[in-house]
Amino acid sequence: MGFVDFSEINKQNEYLSKARAILEGKGKKAFVMTLGCQQNEADSEKISALLQKMGYTLTSKEEEADILIVNTCAIREHAEKRALSIVGRFKHYKSANPDIIIGVCGCMTAQEHRREHFKRSYHYVNFTFGTGAIHRLPEFVYNALNGGKRYFDIDPETPKIAEGLDSVRESTYRAWVSIMYGCNNFCTYCIVPYVRGRERSRKKEDILLEIKDLVKKGYKEITLLGQNVNSYGKDLENRTSISELLDDISKIEGDFWLHLMTSHPKDASDEMIEAIKASPRTSGHFHLPLQSGSDDILKRMNRHYNLEKYLGIIEKLRAENENITLTTDIIVGFPGESEDDFERTLEVIERVKYDSVFSFIYSPRKGTPAASMENQIPEEIKHERYQRFCDKQNDISKEINDSFVGKSVRVLVDGKSKSNEKMYTSRTQGNKIVHFECDKDYTGSFINVKITRADTFNLFGEII
Ligand code: 5AD
Ligand code: SF4
Repeated sequence: MGFVDFSEINKQNEYLSKARAILEGKGKKAFVMTLGCQQNEADSEKISALLQKMGYTLTSKEEEADILIVNTCAIREHAEKRALSIVGRFKHYKSANPDIIIGVCGCMTAQEHRREHFKRSYHYVNFTFGTGAIHRLPEFVYNALNGGKRYFDIDPETPKIAEGLDSVRESTYRAWVSIMYGCNNFCTYCIVPYVRGRERSRKKEDILLEIKDLVKKGYKEITLLGQNVNSYGKDLENRTSISELLDDISKIEGDFWLHLMTSHPKDASDEMIEAIKASPRTSGHFHLPLQSGSDDILKRMNRHYNLEKYLGIIEKLRAENENITLTTDIIVGFPGESEDDFERTLEVIERVKYDSVFSFIYSPRKGTPAASMENQIPEEIKHERYQRFCDKQNDISKEINDSFVGKSVRVLVDGKSKSNEKMYTSRTQGNKIVHFECDKDYTGSFINVKITRADTFNLFGEII
């Protein structure tokens, strides 16, 4: 029921063949721009694969493209403004060549007011579609190639999952694997449940097949994606859970790291913590969004946990895995946040000592409950608190990084450093950036590095 059926897939395959018949041998190029989270990156990899199958060659130069797709993000106002400016910039390509096709997709286009805005104010946009309609790209492109009407698709509340879509993966050693889509949590600040629909899980067999294939191809780091991976499997006909999935993945042979992105503290069960511990692939890192250190704010965020419960999970994670790298998400300046609430958050980061924190200034999102709460915090106070937060976290990160000097770490190498020709860049399992000098190119492989120096955001070392 929750999956796109064969007749729809066949229909899209027919559009794909017809588009290919038009495009093949013409040297047409496609440019895909991705904003936002890893889920969007994973979606764009599927979009790229479909465009390639239609006969386009992918390009990283927007000015030479015959089709331009912008995959947008709606999580904060800044991301939406960026998307509008990028789509705005594409106007002159269309003025110079009216045959160019421009499509906009992703979370922003799932909001009615944004869809209307693209329709009315961006006349050169051919089509928009939401995150649940990626598999229908061949239909949208074929219609545009035939001079069809402009089209603005609307996702159903719970879009179906389209299995079997290929991906053109950005990396040959780090891969995203979506295990579920959507979110049921309705945190009061968050737009995601409105733009990505209700939770739906992929079948365990499909996920395992994808992971086995990636491991066979030599992938070294796999990130399981979902807005709340802890509730994976609850909606499936054959009900399952994240711990069962992790158990099954642990039976796959191979040397690779496994990440979960992202978890909700309200659903972080003991079984899941056990399953993480059971495998050295997962036990090195855990990301657990806190959002705020104040119980009052957590309640008004609709997070369904208090600080005590959250700290209990952190304690268990640390008890099971002594050297685990912990990271979190924090929102500064949620409506009604008092100086006292904010200081609670500072106390928690001081106490937990996260390796790194993704911190965000609260951004009101149209249609979410928090956007119409009283006591919105003035911009200057939000910024002032954000700066204080960053200063404190930077001190903590530096202190933790300093403690690595003299130790050996296992890293996955990313390639030559951009700023220094002689240096390579790599990352630890806990996502710490490690630079080292080396004559040989180990890109895409694991190596061991002895740390000799540290600053706030980087470690430096020597290959062992
Ligand atoms: N304003 C600021 N940050 C937000 N996030 C989600 N919605 C908002 C918003 N309206 C942050 C949360 C979430 C992360 C992905 O983005 O911290 O965990
Ligand atoms: Fe947004 Fe909360 Fe869902 Fe995360 S769990 S996507 S913050 S609503």
